[in-house]
Amino acid sequence: MIDLHNHVIYAFDDGPKTLDESLEMLKQAADQGITDVFATSHFNEIIREESTADYFSKLETLQNELRKREIALRLHPGSEMFFHHYLHQTIKKLRTGTLGGNNLYVLMEFPLYLMPAGVEETLFNLKMEGFIPIIAHPERYSALHQKPEKILNFIRLGGLLQVNAGSALGGFGRTVQKIALWLLENRYAHFLASDAHSPRGRGFKLAETLRELEKNLDKTYLQKLVQDHPQKIINNEILEPLTLPEPEPPKGFLQRMKERLKL
Ligand SMILES: [Fe+2]
Repeated sequence: MIDLHNHVIYAFDDGPKTLDESLEMLKQAADQGITDVFATSHFNEIIREESTADYFSKLETLQNELRKREIALRLHPGSEMFFHHYLHQTIKKLRTGTLGGNNLYVLMEFPLYLMPAGVEETLFNLKMEGFIPIIAHPERYSALHQKPEKILNFIRLGGLLQVNAGSALGGFGRTVQKIALWLLENRYAHFLASDAHSPRGRGFKLAETLRELEKNLDKTYLQKLVQDHPQKIINNEILEPLTLPEPEPPKGFLQRMKERLKL
């Protein structure tokens, strides 16, 4: 398995605080059959070059420590980029801007409680520059909870969806779980990832989540989410976005009245 989204770099964001905690997390990942980890720390448009250097130095330290301990786990650089309007420009300058430094896939997130204006334009700009946006945990944005079908607009704009394992297990509440399962049942998601933050609590729980999901969902599809699709990112291959029908236009007053009166 390949984990596409987690915060495993120590003393960098809200992930682990120490090298030991990072290594404990990575050991847990390896023990459950994860072979590759994209270390997607939080980044934004104001992060400075010194922070990027710090990130890469810690990534290297972790990879060396894994080698010393004979833990067979490959680390890949990356980031979880916080939404801003000129994101397509920022990622060209940042060494962590794209997953695996491949200049192709961008893992991005939005504020959890408010969907900002200009999302369409930003995704359009990313596509125009040849990037493929991956939307981190779309099920967690509370601004979309009333109308989860709005999540599908990310796909219509050329994005791929990454669902959190913790969401599917119910770790973020019933509403988030329901939306996560709806995205998986309908095969709208391209990735399932841990979004791990610590050795306990929000850890790597991919194997556990898969065991649970396999009771009701197609195994082959689930394997694609944690193996085949992220492998394509490592290989620098293109994953095609899903093709969805356009949403129906909102019904006018007259139409609603006709339906109510069964005319
Ligand atoms: Fe994250």
